[in-house]
Amino acid sequence: MNLPACAATLSLIAGAACADVTDVKIGYALAENSHYGAGAHAWADATEAATDGRYEFVEFPSSALGGERDVLEGLQLGTVEATIVSSGVLSNFVPEVGVFDVPFLFRDFDHARAVLDGPIGQDMLATFEDQGLVALAWGEQGFRHITNNRQAINTPEDLAGLKLRTMENPVHIEAFQTLGAAPTPMAWPEVISALQQGTIDGQENPLSVIVSAKLNEVQTYLTLSGHVYAPNILFVSSIFWDGLDDADKEAFRAGAVEGGLAMRAFVDAAETNGVEAMTAAGMQINALTAEQKDAIKTALAPAYADYAVTFGPELLQQIADVQ
Ligand code: PAF
Repeated sequence: MNLPACAATLSLIAGAACADVTDVKIGYALAENSHYGAGAHAWADATEAATDGRYEFVEFPSSALGGERDVLEGLQLGTVEATIVSSGVLSNFVPEVGVFDVPFLFRDFDHARAVLDGPIGQDMLATFEDQGLVALAWGEQGFRHITNNRQAINTPEDLAGLKLRTMENPVHIEAFQTLGAAPTPMAWPEVISALQQGTIDGQENPLSVIVSAKLNEVQTYLTLSGHVYAPNILFVSSIFWDGLDDADKEAFRAGAVEGGLAMRAFVDAAETNGVEAMTAAGMQINALTAEQKDAIKTALAPAYADYAVTFGPELLQQIADVQ
């Protein structure tokens, strides 16, 4: 964790420089050596450089400020300045953003990144303004995969009754209910102990999370299902934002874009090395074939009908059409 600049400075020169440095508290779910840490460091470095050190990010990794919902509420209250959060709880603030949680919506990384970097993704960021949140840039976790302690997943039937932790996300919950699993929404800070105690059988997250959180220590099977893309967003509090001048706003915005790019680079590396690392760590890994994924999509038909009503068939088609 970074020490606030003032704390370091005070021990040397009795505080004269402190008034010039504003601390920016940033909370996130995973450890500093995760994609979240990579994003936060890059955001901090770029912003601090562009503002000649007038702002200093103070990091609270590993859910030290609570679950993702708690941290977003902290931003709304102005007790926390910045965060990077997954799409997990975002639908509770802006329901429309849930469209990106629709299973198998994105063909691959290039498709997802083109949508988020294009007008659809950028317009979506702007919708958070009414919630006391300034969404500055998209970051990334990767495509989510299923881990569990019961069996390898090959077919929808293999999911029957599986107590699977999901994020507190209505789109994900409906998908796993439709597939016959027993989705158990839970904030991330409770997940590892719930897996250890066996109150849930499994969870789903991208390789970046599976590796960073060492899920191999509590899970046996990893099924590379890639069932949904997982973006995240770099936010600052509106209360903090409204106190910035235009040049500093631009520094934070440009820094957040750097943070998002650093997360994508971390995810690219996790996609390349993660399976090997988890195999070496003893996980039993299977990858779904295109036919097996098609069987899951077919089983999801009733959920897709609901998603079309919720998000509109036009938006779903516009996303599919992005090249
Ligand atoms: O599963 C989740 O809740 C999220 O993917 C996580 C691990 C908190 C990262 O944002």
